[in-house]
Amino acid sequence: MGFFSLRKDKTEVPEKKEPPEPIPERREPAAPPAQPQVQVQQTPQKPAAPPVQQRPATGPAPVQRPQVQVQQPRPPEQQIRTQPVQRPAAPAPAEPVREPVRSAAAAPRTEPANVVPAETVSKGAEPRGKVTEPPRPAEADGPTEEVGKIYGNVGTSSFNCRVIAHVERAEYVMVEHADYGNVLCQIGSLIRKTDLSLEKSATVTKDTKIDEMISATVDVIGYRDEKGLLQSPRTTFHAGASVRRASGALIQKVLGLRASAKVGAYIGLLHGHDIPVALDINSLLQKHVCILAKSGGGKSYISGDIVEELMKHNVTCMIIDPHGEYGAMRDKGNSGDARFGVVTRGYGDHIIEFSISKEVKDAKPLRFTLRSLEAREILELTRTNDVKTFLPSLRKAIDLLREKQDVYSVRELIDVLMNDGDGKNSVLIAELEYLEEVGLFATRGNPISELIVLGKTTIINLKGVPPDIQELVVRRLSTLLFEMRKIDKIPPLLLILEEAHNYCPQQGSALSSKALSTIASEGRKFGLGLMVISQRPAKIDKNVLSQCGTQIILKLTNPNDLKAVAASVEGLTNGMTDEVQTMPIGMAMIVGAGIEAPLLVDVRPRESRHGGSGVKVLREDDD
Ligand SMILES: Nc1ncnc2c1ncn2[C@@H]1O[C@H](COP(=O)(O)OP(=O)(O)OP(=O)(O)O)[C@@H](O)[C@H]1O
Ligand SMILES: [Mg+2]
Repeated sequence: MGFFSLRKDKTEVPEKKEPPEPIPERREPAAPPAQPQVQVQQTPQKPAAPPVQQRPATGPAPVQRPQVQVQQPRPPEQQIRTQPVQRPAAPAPAEPVREPVRSAAAAPRTEPANVVPAETVSKGAEPRGKVTEPPRPAEADGPTEEVGKIYGNVGTSSFNCRVIAHVERAEYVMVEHADYGNVLCQIGSLIRKTDLSLEKSATVTKDTKIDEMISATVDVIGYRDEKGLLQSPRTTFHAGASVRRASGALIQKVLGLRASAKVGAYIGLLHGHDIPVALDINSLLQKHVCILAKSGGGKSYISGDIVEELMKHNVTCMIIDPHGEYGAMRDKGNSGDARFGVVTRGYGDHIIEFSISKEVKDAKPLRFTLRSLEAREILELTRTNDVKTFLPSLRKAIDLLREKQDVYSVRELIDVLMNDGDGKNSVLIAELEYLEEVGLFATRGNPISELIVLGKTTIINLKGVPPDIQELVVRRLSTLLFEMRKIDKIPPLLLILEEAHNYCPQQGSALSSKALSTIASEGRKFGLGLMVISQRPAKIDKNVLSQCGTQIILKLTNPNDLKAVAASVEGLTNGMTDEVQTMPIGMAMIVGAGIEAPLLVDVRPRESRHGGSGVKVLREDDD
């Protein structure tokens, strides 16, 4: 069916029992007042959202999509447009300023779908000022332009179409079926058939008359029955039947772009159709999401789009930011393509940044207490593999310190080991000196109330931090978030993990592997969502990847990475794999998310500044 067949629920990974890490701020008062929560709904509520606007039934609705002019007297080959159809500019945002929505839970839901049309979602949720307004609502169902006719052998899941107007691969079309009404289909592949032979091509000039026709293979997606279930036709269409552009209303209905209010993260427009696409924020937190693309494919860009939407909806996030890119979201972005209706703004008032280094401007120091680490954990942070030799003396030193004092520094630990006078400790001491130099450990760590604030985005800037220390930071923070969510001490939140292959690798293991795998398999129960971002899908722990209910795939070319994506998406067809390899920057394929077929989305421009631009080696004025 189409590019893709429905995903089945992933098998739960067996629970990994890891003793919870001690919590750095254990010295805080025992029973703090309960924190207010972003109430991400655990169960769908009764629908109260306005339905997607339909045109009155009387009279044919004017089709909003620009019509491709089919010039009747011309032969078919001249009717085929070679330039993409121009879309009209989106109307200027005209929505009045709305009150902020304090929590995602305030928004009633109709369906637990993960993708919702944004125009019904963002309006009520915009907090202030000028708002990003997704463009016009979807077109109503009505007569649309004919783009071709069915010919040749006709199957129930695909057929051939002689193309008579400009269509693109992956574009949605529809055919009226005698039994089921309009059925949604998608252009799979296109081929221009010509009578120009190899021999004739040797003498071809611009005046040579070439007979040519375009043929498309069209995949049948299906229709909704009276119960609203997606069905595939059981009988074939007729040869000679008209293939028409799909109406926005049919696309929304069949693909499951259901109306829902105030819970959507507007990420762009359905490619070629100007239908806003939004991810359901509740599902992001409950079912996890991954963003996969080659380097420079636009992962951080679209992740920034999602974070902007989460900030607007006052959803709490933590971003593990190994390149120090996300702080740029404090600044206003450059205005982009008007058709997306994006209004630029900065998000400084929503961002809290932490860094181990004192040099990061606007960042608070990130500090952990050493006391919360056991001897074995401290050894894991060092490059020594000789646990047998060092574990007893380290344990002894820690016990000695704990007897005397509540908190202690790395220096104090080193001093105890030095006083021990055991010469074999010198390697361990050198390693601890390295840890001391990093400056991550202090007698007082950041309390959880400082790290996580309701409705704010916490950026953990790890730029320039050695990989082993990064893993340690990710492990401690992810364990902390999981434990705190379990006892409801922090609001539901999304943990965003850039360069995820470094923190939960498929081969070998990182210090953070177990903690992340636990969140991937159990986080959903506690409202702790995971967004894994990677340029190397093949190198991420498959258990983590397979737990992602929504996949955002941008341009990917590495065969191993394509294989890894294919393995985690059921029913991935060759057509879809081809699409992923050839997608331009700015286009994303959204898979899963409770939708029936992969969506190609033109990613919306950023409201805030994107900090991930590559470094220019030469400046244009360098002559
Ligand atoms: N949707 C988009 N619209 C406009 N420009 C985009 C879009 N996506 C990406 N770009 C451009 O591509 C560049 C690279 O994007 P981005 O930084 O998101 O890549 P990445 O996949 O995160 O790369 P890396 O793996 O190196 O982190 C951006 O600086 C931006 O200029
Ligand atoms: Mg990036």
